Amino acid sequence: MLTVHHDDALPLPITHGNLFDFPNDPLACMRKLQQQHGSVAALQQDGTKIYFAFGPEYNHQVLSDSQTYHSRFFAIRGSRNSSQRRLTSGLLSMNGDEHKQQRRMVMDAFLKKAIQGYLPAIKLHVEQMLADWQPGKERDIARDMTEFMLRLTSSILFGMNNPDLAYRIGRMIDHWVHLNHELGMGAYISSPEISGRYDELLDFANELEVEIASLIRQRRTGTGGPDMLSMILQAHDDQGSISDDQLVGQAALIFAAAHLTTAHSLTWTLFLIAQHPSVMQGLHAELRSQLSGGFPTWDAAEKLPVMERIIKESMRVLPASAYSQRMTMQPTQLGPFPLPCQSGVIFSQFITHHLPELYPDPEAFRPERWLDLNPSPYAYLPFGAGSRMCIGAPLAMLIMKTVLPTILQRFKLTSVPYSEVSGKVISTMLSPTCPIQMHIDPQDGEFESQPVVGNIHTLVTLQEAQRRLHRAA
Ligand code: HEM
Repeated sequence: MLTVHHDDALPLPITHGNLFDFPNDPLACMRKLQQQHGSVAALQQDGTKIYFAFGPEYNHQVLSDSQTYHSRFFAIRGSRNSSQRRLTSGLLSMNGDEHKQQRRMVMDAFLKKAIQGYLPAIKLHVEQMLADWQPGKERDIARDMTEFMLRLTSSILFGMNNPDLAYRIGRMIDHWVHLNHELGMGAYISSPEISGRYDELLDFANELEVEIASLIRQRRTGTGGPDMLSMILQAHDDQGSISDDQLVGQAALIFAAAHLTTAHSLTWTLFLIAQHPSVMQGLHAELRSQLSGGFPTWDAAEKLPVMERIIKESMRVLPASAYSQRMTMQPTQLGPFPLPCQSGVIFSQFITHHLPELYPDPEAFRPERWLDLNPSPYAYLPFGAGSRMCIGAPLAMLIMKTVLPTILQRFKLTSVPYSEVSGKVISTMLSPTCPIQMHIDPQDGEFESQPVVGNIHTLVTLQEAQRRLHRAA
C-alpha cells in the first residue's frame, strides 16, 4: 500500500471548528482546509474529526484499499427488516465480498452490448425534449436536463413498455433520495432537529418498495423489454441469482446514482460551451464535418475528439460528483494521522481537479489542455477510481456524446444576459441552485457569449463575456 510520510516535528494539519461547516458548504470548507494544510487535513470539533484526502497520492491510498475504507452512502439505514434498509442496500452502500459479488451480477447490464440497446431510448427522449424547444424563446436548461434524465433513466432501468409507470417510480425514487439527503445531512453528523421527520422517510420507503417490487414481479413473469431490470434479473453466478429484495436496493441506488449526476454534467457542459464561443466554434466545425444533422450512431459518437475533450474538461472543472465519503473499518495511517476504526474520510474530485500543480490555471475552461494531458486515474476521477469506480461511466459518456451533439446541431444556446448562474454541492453533487436560463435559436454557427452573475464566478473563470462586461461598466 502507498504511504505518504509526514515530518513528526510539524503540527498536525487540523482545523478546529464546527463540523457542520462541511455539510453546510462542502466546497468552501474543503477549499479552506486544502489551502491551509495541503494534501491531507482534518476538521475537528470537540473529540470528533472528519479527515480529508486531497490530491492523487491520498486518493490512491483511500480508493485502492477497499478493505480498510468502506463506502457508507446513506446515513439512515432503517431497522434490519425495513423497506428503508432494503432500499439503501445497493452497490453504493455494499462492501467487501458482497459488493464484489453483486457488482458482478449487475455488470452485464452495463457492458457495451447492453448499452447499445439503450440508444433508441436516448434518441426518443432527446427528440421528445427538443420538440418542446421553440426558437426565439428562453429555457431553463437545468430543469430540462433534469426532466430529460428522469424520463431516460426511468425508461432504461424500468422499461419502455410502460413509460408512465417507469416515470412514476423514477419520480418516487427521486423524492426518496431528497428525503434521505434532507434528513441525513452527511454520513457522519446526526442532528436532533431533523430526526423528527424520520417517520415520513420510513413511510415513503414502504410505498416506494411496494411499487418497485410489483414491477419486479411483472418482469419475473416475462413482460418487459430490454431494460436494465430485466437484464439484472437474468444474471446468475455460481451462488445463484439475485433475489427480489436485493434487486429493490440495486434498482433504487442505480437510479439515484445515474439521474442527477448525468443531468448536472449535461447542464454544466451546455453552460460552459455557451460561455466560450471559440470552443463552440471548434465543436460546430466538428459536428458539421462528422455528422449529418441528427442523432449520432454509436460509431459516429465515438469519433468526435473535440466533443470528447469538452466533456472531459467540463467534468474536470465542474465535476457533478464533487466528493465522496468512506469510513475506516480498521485502524490505519493516513499521512500524519493515525486513524481509529470508524473514522470518516472524504476525498474530493473537485479539489483534486483544481490543483494547479496538476492543471495549470485550474479555474479556466480550456478543452485543448487535453490534447497533451494524460493524468493518472487518481488525478482525474470524475467517475471515481478503484474497485468501486462508476459502473455507469460508459453509459453516461454515451448519453453525453449523443445528446449534446443532437442539441447543438439543431440549436444555438446563449446565456440570458445578466441571468444568475450559481451552484452548490448538495448531497455530494455539484448542482445548479437556480434556473440556468438560455436563449434558444436555430443553429447558425455565429456565437457570442453573454455575461452572467452568481457564484459561478467562484468556481470557473468566464473570461470572454466578463471582459466585455467590465469594459461596458
Ligand atoms: C456523469 C454522470 C455520472 C457521474 C459523474 C458519476 C459518478 C460516480 C462516482 C464518482 C462514483 C463512485 C462513488 C464512490 O467511489 O464513492 C459512482 C458510482 C456509481 N455510479 Fe455513477 N456517475 C455517473 C453516471 C452514472 C450512471 C448513468 C449510472 C447507472 C446507470 C451510474 C451508476 C453508478 C453506480 C451503481 C455506482 C456504484 C458503483 C459501486 O459502488 O461499485 N452512474 N458514480
